[in-house]
Amino acid sequence: MDKIISPVKKIIGTVRLAGDKSISHRALMIAALAEGVSEIENLSQSADIQSTRDCLKKIGVKIESRNGVTRVFGKGLAGFTQPANILDVGNSGTTMRLLSGLLAAQKFATTLTGDDSIRRRPMSRIVHPLRKMGANIQAENEEYAPLIIYGGKLNPISYRLPLASAQVKSCVLLAGLFADGVTKVIEPQPTRDHSERMLQTFGAQIEKDGPSVSVAGPAKLTAQHVYVPGDLSSAAFLIAATILADGSQLVVEKVGVNPTRRAFLSLLIEMGAEIDITNFANLNNEFFGDVVARSSKLKGMKIGGEIVPQIIDEIPILAVMATQAEGVTEISGAGELRVKESDRLRALSSNLQRMGAQVIEKEDGLMITGPTVLRGAEIDSFRDHRIAMAFAVAGLIAKGETKIQNAECVEISFPGFFEILQEVAHV
Ligand code: S3P
Repeated sequence: MDKIISPVKKIIGTVRLAGDKSISHRALMIAALAEGVSEIENLSQSADIQSTRDCLKKIGVKIESRNGVTRVFGKGLAGFTQPANILDVGNSGTTMRLLSGLLAAQKFATTLTGDDSIRRRPMSRIVHPLRKMGANIQAENEEYAPLIIYGGKLNPISYRLPLASAQVKSCVLLAGLFADGVTKVIEPQPTRDHSERMLQTFGAQIEKDGPSVSVAGPAKLTAQHVYVPGDLSSAAFLIAATILADGSQLVVEKVGVNPTRRAFLSLLIEMGAEIDITNFANLNNEFFGDVVARSSKLKGMKIGGEIVPQIIDEIPILAVMATQAEGVTEISGAGELRVKESDRLRALSSNLQRMGAQVIEKEDGLMITGPTVLRGAEIDSFRDHRIAMAFAVAGLIAKGETKIQNAECVEISFPGFFEILQEVAHV
């Protein structure tokens, strides 16, 4: 499906979004590993979360949703059953990488595969630590899905991550639940810590010490009631549209502002954006609040170093915002963007150029000079949800119409994106 985006005058409204995708994956998987029936409120409705649900169902986990609450009938560490077929994770890297940690410890073999994009994404980053723990895993050319995981007994390890990745950290921690002893992961840069928080909530023994986090196994997890705050990475597109369109104000209620996720907001504030967070709250170890954004003038900035893993999913929309900021925005240390759902550095530079932006693509980042008046263009989403949404926002402030190709990919993380945008956009 192609989607036509027309310019808007302003964004006004109050919205509440479905649950955070990263937290939703963890809530489902950790509830499946617990004993008893867990209840999850405000689970993400995205296609990626549907992939995790489908895979868990195929290994014997009963999951049902009614009236906004999802019930997961936990199996404990040893209750999963061999799937009749290959597990298909669709487009979801988090499903493949986290589930591999759990499957590596089972008494049966599983094959995991996914769509074209997933089969191009690097998997040796999880295969290596899992093999160190004693797992028997085969990958296509030692790197790609399909992964064949022959489950078995795992040993605890201490593992220094060669790259900052919450998915790899979480994979090792989930595998560590099964190992006899303490499994430790040391991070080069801080990444989102939802797994640690959720595991703690379900009763795992988690220790954090500076850059390292450890889990004691074998763990006994107990069913919980979990509330999933709204997804800040989805809200980011609406917040950006609000900041960029004159005379706008938007409130996003009950959105997750975990300290390892909210750097996007602090960065925008540094760039000159008017953003407030009110009504702070904490439920089951995760923070959330109401984010209020208003139209603002931005100035360009150097973005690199430790902050990058914490804004990794927001860089596409930040790049669009940078075209409207005064001066140069230089994004560096973001080479990981080349191995996301698409090569996001390439997708951003080629599409920004089509819209008339001043952009230079670097090996590990982008250099964008603004402000530029964007012009409507035909945008290749590369079937990547965050590219499609970033350029839909660009289309709102461009001159003329913008066409987003294969725009249905927004369902991967944010079903209802275009409908919500229409509700808050005034033409
Ligand atoms: C995620 C971690 C990040 C992020 C992805 C979700 C997670 O990936 O880009 O969208 O839920 O752990 P990496 O771990 O590959 O950086």
